[in-house]
Amino acid sequence: MYIIIHYCIFYSIYFLRFYFTMLQYSIQIDFNVYFNSLLNNIIIYLSFLPKIMAIPKDARINLSPEDIPKRWYNMASDLTDLKPPLNPGTGEPAKPSDFEPIFCKEIIKQEGSTERYIDIPEEVRDNLIYLNRPAPLQRAYRLEKALKTPAKIYFKREDMSPLGSHKGNTALAQAYYNAEAGIHTLTTETGAGQWGTALAMVSNLYDLDTTVFMVKGSYMAKPLRKTIINTYGAKIYASPSEYTEFGRKVLKEHPETSGSLGIAISEACELAAKDPGTNYSLGSVLNHVMLHQTVIGQETIQQMEIGEITPDYVVACTGGGSNFGGMVFPMLGKKIRGEGFKDTQFVAVEPKAAPSLTEGQFKYDFGDTGGFTPLLMMYTLGSEFIPNSIHAGGLRYHGMSPLVSAAYDSGMISARSYDQTATFEAGLLFARTEGIIPAPESCHALKGAIDLALDAKAKNEEKTIVFCLSGHGLLDLYGYEQYLDGTLPSSDIHQ
Ligand SMILES: Cc1ncc(COP(=O)(O)O)c(C=O)c1O
Repeated sequence: MYIIIHYCIFYSIYFLRFYFTMLQYSIQIDFNVYFNSLLNNIIIYLSFLPKIMAIPKDARINLSPEDIPKRWYNMASDLTDLKPPLNPGTGEPAKPSDFEPIFCKEIIKQEGSTERYIDIPEEVRDNLIYLNRPAPLQRAYRLEKALKTPAKIYFKREDMSPLGSHKGNTALAQAYYNAEAGIHTLTTETGAGQWGTALAMVSNLYDLDTTVFMVKGSYMAKPLRKTIINTYGAKIYASPSEYTEFGRKVLKEHPETSGSLGIAISEACELAAKDPGTNYSLGSVLNHVMLHQTVIGQETIQQMEIGEITPDYVVACTGGGSNFGGMVFPMLGKKIRGEGFKDTQFVAVEPKAAPSLTEGQFKYDFGDTGGFTPLLMMYTLGSEFIPNSIHAGGLRYHGMSPLVSAAYDSGMISARSYDQTATFEAGLLFARTEGIIPAPESCHALKGAIDLALDAKAKNEEKTIVFCLSGHGLLDLYGYEQYLDGTLPSSDIHQ
């Protein structure tokens, strides 16, 4: 549409110019001048053509800072029959006071809220600009070409945050509310290191100290994460660590363990529960984290309106579910309310090493390994399950967000799982076509999008696929190196 308008304006201007030139010379009937002028105008028309054709209007859709959403969307308002978290001691629904040893009041309020929208504090919204929000929605033309698919593939660029991933969206909000509540220190877990990095950096904006427990396997494989987190001024320990009671217990029983997100969460919660001035901050899973991430999907909706894009599929990877929820929930909410996305399918992609949706059970389970958290109704592989070591450390979690789990259980979304070898193959193709090296976690979403595009090719259908590129992989190069060397192991739990 825009291109047609563009052409009409250009052609009208040059036709008028040409017409007046002729009028001027018609009196003298100088045919040389006539043909020169005609030639000139044709050359000018043609010179515009490649410029217009080279940058299609949907190559990259940007929004301006004023378009950053003013409210978060709460999926809990549109999902019925949600099961509340339970106090493991009483078996009764957890009370707000059960969360108080580790969370501040505002976060607890958001966790239990069923309001459809919650205002984003102005200070948080302002700081989102420094995380490069709004993030562009970009079309993967060269990937489409390499796949020879009639499908259109778009990706939301969470990799453009200076922190490397989508994790800053909730880190900012959590740090803000904790600082407002007078908290001086935050503790947290991190898998791949992206979440720990995000919290470590934003803590500086609110004068908070941060202690990060990083899953040992990832800590060893990605030593530069420690440097980044220290550079931002936070402390970091490989988990399980000697620093907590629970860490020491695990180390005694399993001295060789590579750790897990469940263990790292227990260590961080233990520390927070001991000191009233210290709170725990979580990078995924819980409702308030899903809420903060909905800026992703709300921006994408605006961008799809501008680009006149109607997605057949929206795809995102799932570790604890936050980039998936952030991307999908605002659209799923509209679908439930009959306000659009009628024919859109939402696809969650998880690793074969931790396939909580595709192979887990929907039941009450602890969010951590040590049993410090309330019981959550979610798809889980069991809180004691320690997934195989994979490069996508952020997807190595035994459970899934209760909101994503409820949507999956009711058939509103689908899920698939991949071996890490297939996802790195996808990452390599993306790097060579689009120039971006995706995080190993994001490679799962990419692989899902590629498979849907190949399916469209096989059926000769012009499908539109939008996926969330949740982060870049510039600190995950060891995985790429292993893939290139041919030494990358399979990550399937059945092998
Ligand atoms: C880049 C990236 N994508 C995805 C994830 C998975 O987390 P979530 O499911 O909460 O989005 C992580 C987690 O660390 C990550 O670092």
